[in-house]
Amino acid sequence: MEGVAERTTKRKQILEKKKVVDGLIRAASSLKNPLAPFSEFLNYNLQGLCLSLEGGHGAKLSRSLKQYVLNLVKQNMQQHYGDEWPKEEKVKCRDMVAPEARYIFVYEVPTLVSSTEKRLMPTNEHKNDVVGFVHYRFITEEELPVLYVYELQLEPRIQGKGLGKFLMQLLELIARKNCMAAIVLTVQKANLSAMFFYTSKLGYCISSMSPSRVDPLVGLRKNYEILCKSFDQEAKNKFEVHLLSPEQNTYCGQFTGFFKSQFELINDFWSSGAVI
Ligand SMILES: CC(C)(COP(=O)(O)OP(=O)(O)OC[C@H]1O[C@@H](n2cnc3c(N)ncnc32)[C@H](O)[C@@H]1OP(=O)(O)O)[C@@H](O)C(=O)NCCC(=O)NCCS
Repeated sequence: MEGVAERTTKRKQILEKKKVVDGLIRAASSLKNPLAPFSEFLNYNLQGLCLSLEGGHGAKLSRSLKQYVLNLVKQNMQQHYGDEWPKEEKVKCRDMVAPEARYIFVYEVPTLVSSTEKRLMPTNEHKNDVVGFVHYRFITEEELPVLYVYELQLEPRIQGKGLGKFLMQLLELIARKNCMAAIVLTVQKANLSAMFFYTSKLGYCISSMSPSRVDPLVGLRKNYEILCKSFDQEAKNKFEVHLLSPEQNTYCGQFTGFFKSQFELINDFWSSGAVI
């Protein structure tokens, strides 16, 4: 039996830990520019793309950036939400400008072909159009500090050129630099290519917080999964260890099997050289 002294010590430890976690979130969220330590990652010159990255805050978005964010999310995501889109669009509209929203905007850099070096060279002209963005936040999940990716959206013409992977790697650096315990994100089940991108290419797994893992029957009614990548053992235990009963685990195994086969189908399709 636990005595009063043990209970008091435990409570103190919990409060102490909460203080530390709150402090980490506050420190990360109060950074003026979380990209500042990563200046060498702010240019992307690969596969014919010449891009530059810039940070942003939800509370300080210009009217044109807000419109851009909404248009791109709609263009990329409406198909995956189906009938739920009108409701979801309102939520996204509100989330987009929350004070805790942090952004990475991707801009196309005007270029010219250098005749001597035979490659694209940035000109001195001012940067051009936005071509994609990431919306992320530093928040607490299950009493641990995490970087939550709300949106990763690239225009179709720049997809499949390594930029999504590059941005996720940059987010991982930002998360680790700010002592976050994991990266967490939500993906629509219908968005099979994003599921494949995160799970098969970037090593994310379906989190134990995901509805399908909490209760497979509830999971069946939900259109999304929560994915995560943990950076330490405590986060792994909280976000990745599944505490389902053997019967529930059997359900889960069946669902995971279903998704796995979907991923494999896409994998085959992708490696066959087909263009989506
Ligand atoms: C999903 C998304 C962010 C991926 O970014 P991307 O720049 O297109 O992907 P990358 O070029 O970095 O690809 C990384 C890897 O994933 C694979 N991949 C990416 N998209 C894929 C697809 N549709 N089908 C199969 N594989 C895919 C690539 O082959 C690559 O593999 P490699 O590392 O072995 O070469 C981007 O396609 C996108 O913005 N999609 C629309 C919006 C969306 O669905 N966002 C995610 C919401 S949660």
